[in-house]
Amino acid sequence: MNTTEFTKVMLNRLFFYPSYELYNTPAGFYDFGPIGSIVKKKYIDYARRFFITSNGFLEIDGSIITPKDVLIASGHEQRFRDPITICKQCKSVFRADKLINNEQMNIEELKTYYKTHEVLCPVCKTRLIDVELFNPMFKTEIGYNKEQAYLRPETAQAIYVSFPRIFRSIGGKLPLVISQIGKSFRNEVSPRKGIIRLREFNQIEIEYFFNPDDKNEIELDNKKIKMNVDDKIEYYSIEDFKHTFVKYDAMAFFLIKEWEFFKSLGIKEEEMWFRWIDEKERPHYSKGNIDLEVKTSYGIIEITGNAYRTDYDLKNHARKTGKKTSVKIDGKEIYPHVIEASIGVERSLYAVLEHNFIIDKERGWNWFKFPSIIAPYTLAIFPLVKRDGLDNIARNIFKSLIRQEDVYYKDTGSIGKRYARADEIGIPYCITIDYQTKEDNTVTIRYRDSTKQERIDLNNILIHIRKYERNQKHKD
Ligand code: ATP
Ligand code: GLY
Repeated sequence: MNTTEFTKVMLNRLFFYPSYELYNTPAGFYDFGPIGSIVKKKYIDYARRFFITSNGFLEIDGSIITPKDVLIASGHEQRFRDPITICKQCKSVFRADKLINNEQMNIEELKTYYKTHEVLCPVCKTRLIDVELFNPMFKTEIGYNKEQAYLRPETAQAIYVSFPRIFRSIGGKLPLVISQIGKSFRNEVSPRKGIIRLREFNQIEIEYFFNPDDKNEIELDNKKIKMNVDDKIEYYSIEDFKHTFVKYDAMAFFLIKEWEFFKSLGIKEEEMWFRWIDEKERPHYSKGNIDLEVKTSYGIIEITGNAYRTDYDLKNHARKTGKKTSVKIDGKEIYPHVIEASIGVERSLYAVLEHNFIIDKERGWNWFKFPSIIAPYTLAIFPLVKRDGLDNIARNIFKSLIRQEDVYYKDTGSIGKRYARADEIGIPYCITIDYQTKEDNTVTIRYRDSTKQERIDLNNILIHIRKYERNQKHKD
């Protein structure tokens, strides 16, 4: 996959571009443009339906600015740290672990490695020697008295703090699943890979609260889970998975869902797998972490993180506040345990976009193959010419469809060019209105994936598309 070609389309076709770009803004901030912002909204909508609403899970919308005490209780203030190395010559800063492609070393091991190996600054080639820890949370202050706070580094804490209230008011039963979709912030030291490593990004986080003493069975399809353990790929049955990794069904449930979700969006199965995270590499709150990794032109990237967070967060909020976060189940006071799924929106969307990008020499332009559920527009309406009443018919079709679907309209340029531009942003169907339309009320539908064309009744466009998509699904 050619990153340059891909980036060109991203920038030129207004998917995303650096924020406040006239000002030489620091890296790690990206705006989603007129096309990208629609794709991102649809992606989030699809994810919400897929992971949250279709499973009857709850959702909250919490504050981003988080009092410091919350993040002291969660351990982020003391233990959320990235190892960094600073070039003495040019002052560039790098993630010490990522620079040597080894995220499993702890700080002491990294220090020793840098002292004993010749690691050179990628910018000026000076030897890098020291490694230190850096807390990547953005600080802010609240009100005149400047109460200390942070922009949240994960969305999860608002869910933990809300948990006791939600539990009480919905009838006091476990499991209880609460999710949140929203912004998180990390002051990454070297965000150099486009929207893969941002300082401001969105997460979809789902917290599954359960009683560890219960059976906690979830109906799981008898699927295999593809795991990468110590760089060896193996397929595990659900029973073997539970026996080897995390015994609670909720973890396998999330992994199966994530696999189906990304598969449905065109990520190639042979280029993704789950990775069991070594104990040394796990976040401070976790007793078991499994990432979903995908191959991209930037290398292998983590697009989701799944963690068995135990009762760590609820217990620590109780300790810090002196308030009750435990719950009564069958007369017994317990702290529920939590399994979490955390999906980075921009990073995973990047992988989806790349996996759907087709470099097509034959066609003469590159195009996107993504499903219409996340395409910026489901269909485009093109009058062959902007006169003789063809444009009026086209506009009427546009008006009749726009309340139900995202529809693109363009009445200038040659039809060939309009098809090419539509392909480039992944519009799955183009409808052309020509002189024959005036005679027999038919229009031409052109299919993006095959470039085939056929005539259909202009009153049946959406019915035709839906039927076509149903048939395609059966074929897959
Ligand atoms: P990395 O090791 O790449 O920094 P992480 O292990 O810190 O990632 P998590 O803390 O597990 O990531 O966060 C959960 C998810 O949030 C990730 O799988 C990723 O999709 C997303 N995410 C985390 N950091 C960023 C970032 N800086 N930019 C974009 N997405 C991110
Ligand atoms: N909530 C998991 C993470 O962002 O690290």
